[in-house]
Amino acid sequence: MSANHHQRYAHIVGWGKYVPPNILTNEELSKRVDTSDAWIRERTGIRERRIATKETTASMALYAAQEALEVADVNPNEIDLIIVATSSPEYIFPATASIVQDQLGAQNAGAFDLSAACSGFVYGLTLAAGMIRAGTYNNVLVIGAETFSRLLNWKDRATCILFGDGAGAVLLQGSDEYGGILSTVLGSDGSGGELLEIPAGGSKNPTSLETVMANMHFVKMNGREVYRFATRVMVDAIKQALQKANLPLAELDLLIPHQANTRIIDYAAKALQLPPSKVFVNLEKYGNTSAASIPIALVEAIEDKRVNPGDHLVFVGFGAGLSWGACALEWTEPTIKRITTPQRAAQSKLRYGWANVKSMGHRVLRRVDAGVSRTLDRIEGHSNDNGNGK
Ligand code: UT7
Repeated sequence: MSANHHQRYAHIVGWGKYVPPNILTNEELSKRVDTSDAWIRERTGIRERRIATKETTASMALYAAQEALEVADVNPNEIDLIIVATSSPEYIFPATASIVQDQLGAQNAGAFDLSAACSGFVYGLTLAAGMIRAGTYNNVLVIGAETFSRLLNWKDRATCILFGDGAGAVLLQGSDEYGGILSTVLGSDGSGGELLEIPAGGSKNPTSLETVMANMHFVKMNGREVYRFATRVMVDAIKQALQKANLPLAELDLLIPHQANTRIIDYAAKALQLPPSKVFVNLEKYGNTSAASIPIALVEAIEDKRVNPGDHLVFVGFGAGLSWGACALEWTEPTIKRITTPQRAAQSKLRYGWANVKSMGHRVLRRVDAGVSRTLDRIEGHSNDNGNGK
């Protein structure tokens, strides 16, 4: 280790969320499939969820990211890397993160998507924190964004009642001050892959008339097995993250778990003897928003004044893969939202408007450039032909 080596820490300095305004209640769902409000509430805790109408995964990710940057008071061109954790990306490629990078005008940022389903946000934090602690990058945007409503079979009551759409984002920033992400734990058990999957549309089962007819492009789940897996890994992952951070369980102030099912969360809370005041739950409003659930919950926990500087938090996620992840952190940032003056709001509007104009400019220029290059090549080809002919 060199003499001037600083220990770097990755702190959450900005946070934001977006959920579509369109609400789908259990009551409304029970008119579409054979279910009831009572069943859904009793078995899952969900009352309603948000369903995207005009929104897409990228547009929701963008809104959440813009809010996180406002809170952090960081300019998009200071971002080094954008990670979008999603299992419902806009396309197989390009990455949703690149679309967000363009629309933010984050011209100095690398961007990629991360596929780890409901564990994706914790995986993203792990990567971002590692890069910051290594000194590779200083400002990393980690976004969880999902539009599962477009991947659900709305005739399958076992899955369509569970999921909702939304996005959450945090900006991680490097500092020499102790705190921020203290430890992370990641896990995977691919032998359980078929318990929660979208069987077709990838390279193994490419889209065909048969795959479409067989409903293979929708989420397919063995709920009971995923439930058993979730309760099995969650408690261990939380304990491991705390242990790696040298924190006794008694010093945990708030657990922010992946919001899939209140019964799963209650099971973990009971096993760890955590009182309800130390566990954040908001899934009654949003259902399971997969990779977006933890960052959305974090933003709401902050809004509810349940996160304060000095607090120790644990995030824990689990889902398809099978995969899981937990992360222990010490919160360091004041949570009183910085007041957005009309002048700053106007500045932001101008900045994102300008990013859009520039992006459009780049697209036009690329087309013109391609056209001109083609013409030049043709002329050159002709003159070469002539030269060869003589
Ligand atoms: O991010 C990770 C994503 N996945 C999860 O977190 C899912 C984890 N699993 C679960 O949350 C639960 O397994 C479910 C909520 C999906 C299901 O609850 P369960 O208590 O495990 O129910 P079950 O699958 O054992 O089904 C019980 C009964 C069945 O009827 P029979 O076979 O006992 O006659 C189902 O057909 O409930 C029936 N059922 C429903 N009834 C009304 C299943 N879905 C519904 C429904 N409405 N929507």
